[in-house]
Amino acid sequence: SPTAVVIVAAGSGMRLGYGIPKALVPLAGAPLLLHALRGAAGAGIARQICVAVPEDDTELTELCRTFAEELGELAPEITVVPGGETRSDSVRAALAALAPGTVHVLVHDAARPLTPSEVFHRVAEALERGAGAVVPAIPVVDTIKSTAPTEGEAAAVAAEVVTGTAVREQLRAVQTPQGFDVAALRSAHELAATWGPEQVAAITDDAMLIESIGTPVYVVPGDLQAFKVTTPMDLHVAETLVAAQG
Ligand code: C5P
Repeated sequence: SPTAVVIVAAGSGMRLGYGIPKALVPLAGAPLLLHALRGAAGAGIARQICVAVPEDDTELTELCRTFAEELGELAPEITVVPGGETRSDSVRAALAALAPGTVHVLVHDAARPLTPSEVFHRVAEALERGAGAVVPAIPVVDTIKSTAPTEGEAAAVAAEVVTGTAVREQLRAVQTPQGFDVAALRSAHELAATWGPEQVAAITDDAMLIESIGTPVYVVPGDLQAFKVTTPMDLHVAETLVAAQG
């Protein structure tokens, strides 16, 4: 089925402490977005790659234009759209720019520059088998607990207290690309547009929106190398991995 990849690259990258959009941060001499573009195009599943960039951007847009030129005519069409305030807003802007007739879409973070092709393939294959939504995920190694701020006398002891522990065997760390039936993702985003600010702030991935409308979200194996570059340590790990693959 006609498939598009959306790459969201409109984040600020505050936690990396570079003072430039995260997608522009260099890894092995190339911006994170270029790694993500190569990964998405290299997987060979998309007829269009739509990139959401920061609203005031010129550099990432230029990078996309140069990449499209390098790919030539037989390669996927590269589209650039201004992103929004939240990741969800950026995805919504990209969905609006997909070519008519697009049936499946894979939504991918620019911040996961080393995602192997196999992950794109697993997600795309699950969509072909009929999934309306599918996420790549890996088992969790830490025990995950919920916490709440302490109050009264307890606040003098520590700032937070544990309120519960999830069963680790049931937990998964979810990565991108996440795959969707385009119509299903569009209607989930339309519904979310009516939500209040607190609900909207709690949306951290696209699959959450699909879960909220009761459509099953399937899970395929992710890959440790699809980790998200968020902190300076992550960037260090990514540099080391690229150097080792040399
Ligand atoms: O901030 P976080 O690491 O969760 O961002 C994940 C991805 O979402 C990044 O690739 C980032 O560029 C993108 N994003 C976006 N628009 C925003 C916020 C984040 O495209 N407003």
